[in-house]
Amino acid sequence: MSRIDVAALITALGGRESLQHLLGVGPSAVSNYLTKGALPNRARPLVCQALQERGYQVDPQSLSITALPLVKSGRPQARERQGAAILLIVGGGIAAYKALEVSRRLQDHGIKVTGVMTKAAQQFITPLSLSALTAQKTYSDLFSLTEEAEMGHIRLARETDLVVVVPATASLMARTAQGLADDLATTLLLATKAPIIMAPAMNPAMWSNAATQANLATLRQRGIEVIGPVTGETACGEEGKGRMSGPDTIVTAAVAKLAQTVSAGALTGKHALVTSGPTVEPLDAVRFISNHSSGRQGHAIAAALARRGTRVTLVSGPVNIPDPPGVAMIHVRTAEQMLAACKAALPADIAICTAAVADWRAQKPVKGKIKKLPGDTAAPTISLTKNPDILAQLSSHSQRPKLVIGFAAETDNLQANASEKLRRKGCDWILANAVSPDSSDGTVFGNEHNKVSLITSDEKEDWPMMLKTELADKLVQRIINTIGVVNAKN
Ligand code: C5P
Repeated sequence: MSRIDVAALITALGGRESLQHLLGVGPSAVSNYLTKGALPNRARPLVCQALQERGYQVDPQSLSITALPLVKSGRPQARERQGAAILLIVGGGIAAYKALEVSRRLQDHGIKVTGVMTKAAQQFITPLSLSALTAQKTYSDLFSLTEEAEMGHIRLARETDLVVVVPATASLMARTAQGLADDLATTLLLATKAPIIMAPAMNPAMWSNAATQANLATLRQRGIEVIGPVTGETACGEEGKGRMSGPDTIVTAAVAKLAQTVSAGALTGKHALVTSGPTVEPLDAVRFISNHSSGRQGHAIAAALARRGTRVTLVSGPVNIPDPPGVAMIHVRTAEQMLAACKAALPADIAICTAAVADWRAQKPVKGKIKKLPGDTAAPTISLTKNPDILAQLSSHSQRPKLVIGFAAETDNLQANASEKLRRKGCDWILANAVSPDSSDGTVFGNEHNKVSLITSDEKEDWPMMLKTELADKLVQRIINTIGVVNAKN
C-alpha cells in the first residue's frame, strides 16, 4: 500500500493531539505513523469520519483529502462573488517569502487572496510580487487616500471569510494581543469579524520568551488559531522552536477553517428528514424480505446536512455503518415503521428519501418459524401485500416539506422512467441512477461511488461518477442554492 501523508492528515484534524485523542493512542504511536506513512486499519474509518466532519472529502483508499467546494451559500449577489476570500497579512520576517507560496496554493483551491503587507514585510518581498501572484492589489498603507478611496480598511476587514497571517512576527502577535491598531495590518486584525489564523516565525529565544508566550495564550484564548511554529534551524542559524510551519500545513489549516466557516450554518434553523438503508419485512420469526442497500448514500446526505447546521432526523433501516454524528437517529426495521417515524418527524423543510424500501411485505408474517417438514415437496405459499410508498405519502402530506427529493434506480429509459416517477410520486427532484440490468449481485448497493442524473420537472442534469460523500455535498450545496437559505452569519 502506498504511503499516506500522515502529516497532512494531522494538520487537517487540528494537530497531533486531536489524532491521539481520536484513536486513543499516545504521542509515540503518532510518531510511528508519521515515520511509516501508514495508519492501522482500525483507524481508517475513524479518521475518514473525523475529516468529513471538518469539511474534507476523503478518498477512503489513499486517505488523500480535498476541501469541500468553497462556494458561498446564502446571498452570493450581496457580495457579488461566489468563491471564498482570504486576506493574507504578511509580517516582516525572513519567512515572508513563503507567503508567496501560500498565496499561490490557496488560489489552487479557488480562493481569492488579497495581500496586505506591513512596512517591515516590504524589506523582504515587494507588494508587486504579491500582487502579481494574487492578481489583486496589495494593500499596505493605513493612511493612503488612494487606498482608502478604492477600498476602505473596514470594508477590507469585513469582506473576507478568513484572515491568515504569514509570518506572524513577535511584534505582530504582541500588537494584536494588545489590540493596537497602529498600521493597516493590526487595524484589520482588530476590525475583522472573520476567523484569524496566525503562522508565527521568530528566533527560538523570542518564541520562548514569557512575553510572547503570554501573548500566544491571549490570542488563542480569543479564538485565533495558531499554526506552529516547528522545531528546526531558524533563519538566524539557531536551532529550536521558532521556524514557521510549511506552506502546505498553513494552506491545509486555512482551507479547513474556510470550509467550516463558509458552509457552517447555511441551513441553520431548517429541519431535514432523511430516510436511509433497506427495510426488512419479516416472513416468519427468522426469515425476511430485504435488499442490499448499505445506507451509505442516505447516511452521507444526513451527515452533509448536519455539517451545514441543519437539524436532521435520519430514519434508517438496519445497516452496518455507524450513525452519522449530529443527527437525531431513528432506527426502524419495516416500511410501516419507517413511514410512522417519518410522519412523526414532520414538520420538516426538506425530505430526502434515500431508503430502499421493500416494495412488498408478507400479508401475515408467521409468528414462529415456518416448518420445513421432511418429505415436503411443495414450497409454502406466502401472500404478499404492497408496502406504503413513503416518498409519495410525504409528497402529498398536509405538512408537505417544501422540497421533497427521491432516488430512482432504473435499468433502462432512465430519463423517461424517472420523470414519470417524479410525477407519479409528486416529489420535486429525483436523483436517478442507471443500474445495469445484470447487477443482481448487489454490487451497485455497497459501492463507495454513485453516478446520478438530477431530474426536476423542467431540467435534467447529468452528474459525473463521484464518491457518495461527494454526491451528498453536491446535493446539499444544490439544496442551499435552491431554497435560498441565508447564511445566518451574513
Ligand atoms: O418506486 P421506486 O422504489 O423506484 O422509488 C424509489 C424512491 O421512492 C426512493 O426515493 C425511495 O426511497 C422511495 N420509496 C419510498 N417508499 C416505497 C418505495 C420507494 O419512499 N415504498
